[in-house]
Amino acid sequence: MTDLPEHVRRNRAYWDTLAAEYVGPGERNWASEEPSWGIWGIPDAEVRLLPAELAGRDVIELGCGTAYISAWLARRGARPVGIDNSPAQLETATRLQREHGVEFPLILGNAEAVPLPDASFDVAISEYGAALWADPYKWIPEAARLLRPGGELIFLTNGLLCILCVPDLEADGPATDRLRRPYFGMHRNEWPDSDGVEFHLGHGDWIRLLRANGFEITDLIELRPPDGATSTYPWVTAEWARSWPSEEVWRARRR
Ligand SMILES: C[S@@+](CC[C@H](N)C(=O)[O-])C[C@H]1O[C@@H](n2cnc3c(N)ncnc32)[C@H](O)[C@@H]1O
Repeated sequence: MTDLPEHVRRNRAYWDTLAAEYVGPGERNWASEEPSWGIWGIPDAEVRLLPAELAGRDVIELGCGTAYISAWLARRGARPVGIDNSPAQLETATRLQREHGVEFPLILGNAEAVPLPDASFDVAISEYGAALWADPYKWIPEAARLLRPGGELIFLTNGLLCILCVPDLEADGPATDRLRRPYFGMHRNEWPDSDGVEFHLGHGDWIRLLRANGFEITDLIELRPPDGATSTYPWVTAEWARSWPSEEVWRARRR
């Protein structure tokens, strides 16, 4: 624990306290046969974020939380491994594995330094895991190291515009149509009312970072919730998210 980077140590304590709130969503997602994504629960059938061919493929989920994505992948014949920084989140994941009879390796650790060999995976995936809570200048090179040539990286995080438009304090309400912080220089971000440390990059920085680590970018999907969608998260309304992207998914292929 003491040799972990400062932001990883802080995020471990933060996620251990948040884990209880993620038990319910984890249970619902494990019980669901149909994968769905992000805060709006958009069905995979609509956005097709999962690779078409999963049987026999080695997948690493970076920041797996309760590991429901790995469970969906395992049921489709993939061989997932989940890594997460929070013992409490992994406790829920382990219990749900037992209850559903779907077992795969779970590792307690930092997605910026994964204790697994080079080129051992065909797919690396993260939904608000490493994609949001780990330093992209550390975890993107690590994902590149872990993937075999031709392997795919898929990650979902907050939409860039949304991060620019949300108030500093959650109590001040959801994102509006006003830009509240600079775009240039985005990287580490600490909200004044949260103990966690997040990371956000501008799109040019994401493109350069991915290309510098041997990735060819194949898509940037800006998720749009359907009319009438609801979310339990306070930082963005469905009305806002119908006009501007509240979530974005990057897809890239390892050369
Ligand atoms: C929002 S959850 C993501 C899991 C799930 N997809 C979800 O949306 O609930 C964020 C997870 O990222 C994990 N995490 C944060 N920093 C991490 C790091 N450096 N390495 C691995 N996991 C990390 C947290 O412990 C937490 O379980």
